[in-house]
Amino acid sequence: MHSPAKTVAWQAGLFACLAGGCGSPPSPGRALVIAHRGDSRQAPENTLAAFRAALAAGADMIELDARASADGTLWCLHDATLDRTTNARALLDRTPVRIGEISSQQIEILDAGGWFDPDFAGQRVPTLSSALDLIQSGSVALIERKSGDAGAYIRLLREKDLTGKVVVQSFDWAFLEQVHALEPLQPLAALGDKDPSPDRLEALQGTGARIVAWEYQHLTPDVISRLHQRGYAVWAWTPDREADWQRLIAWGIDGIITNRPGALSATIRRRAVPQPAA
Ligand code: G3P
Ligand code: CA
Repeated sequence: MHSPAKTVAWQAGLFACLAGGCGSPPSPGRALVIAHRGDSRQAPENTLAAFRAALAAGADMIELDARASADGTLWCLHDATLDRTTNARALLDRTPVRIGEISSQQIEILDAGGWFDPDFAGQRVPTLSSALDLIQSGSVALIERKSGDAGAYIRLLREKDLTGKVVVQSFDWAFLEQVHALEPLQPLAALGDKDPSPDRLEALQGTGARIVAWEYQHLTPDVISRLHQRGYAVWAWTPDREADWQRLIAWGIDGIITNRPGALSATIRRRAVPQPAA
């Protein structure tokens, strides 16, 4: 068992280990601001424009979704198909267009910005590699694996000298185990979205994850404290309202994944300033 103080020390240690080239680690003991799919209210999700906006908003970390195309290249994309967030349907004249069934050459020509706003027309679906180059220039990537095997992710991180400098997360805990076996020092987050039952929490041990990222409406002070006692950092996804942020912070949350990173940063800054007595 670890004490909550040790959990905070561990999180500071995580950022010390991530610090190579990532700028100053955030102050230990305050919740990390993690931009969801980039700053996805300001720019089309999972594009370089969204990642740039998240850097400008001062996000400690930037979450993205990653999937493999038919030839095994890793791309930033949330859905299994390209239909919602690109012009693939019109360009390829079929639907659905599954990323796992098409080639890199077909993906490279797609527009991933026009659906969001004409101002963003011309944005491409970024490769995971290009996204990491941008994000690591001023923040830390939180890579959510949606598809692709553990070997492909570890190969890319090794090629780019990024093992231990980003966090990999997944709902697929068997995938996390595989990554852990390949690269035991790679920081991992286990995602969950249902009531965190004792069995589920027990199963965390096999994943190699030291971070638990849970759907925020299922988090309670008791769950957070039990996870802290076991030595896990606890992150919440994806609250966007001030009242939810304040409640989670009061409960000791270690990181918040949000679609409003700029507003969350401002809330955390305000909390750090002592308020005058009424
Ligand atoms: O970061 C966790 C969160 O992104 C999981 O849900 O559907 O947005 O990938 P989803
Ligand atoms: Ca995600």
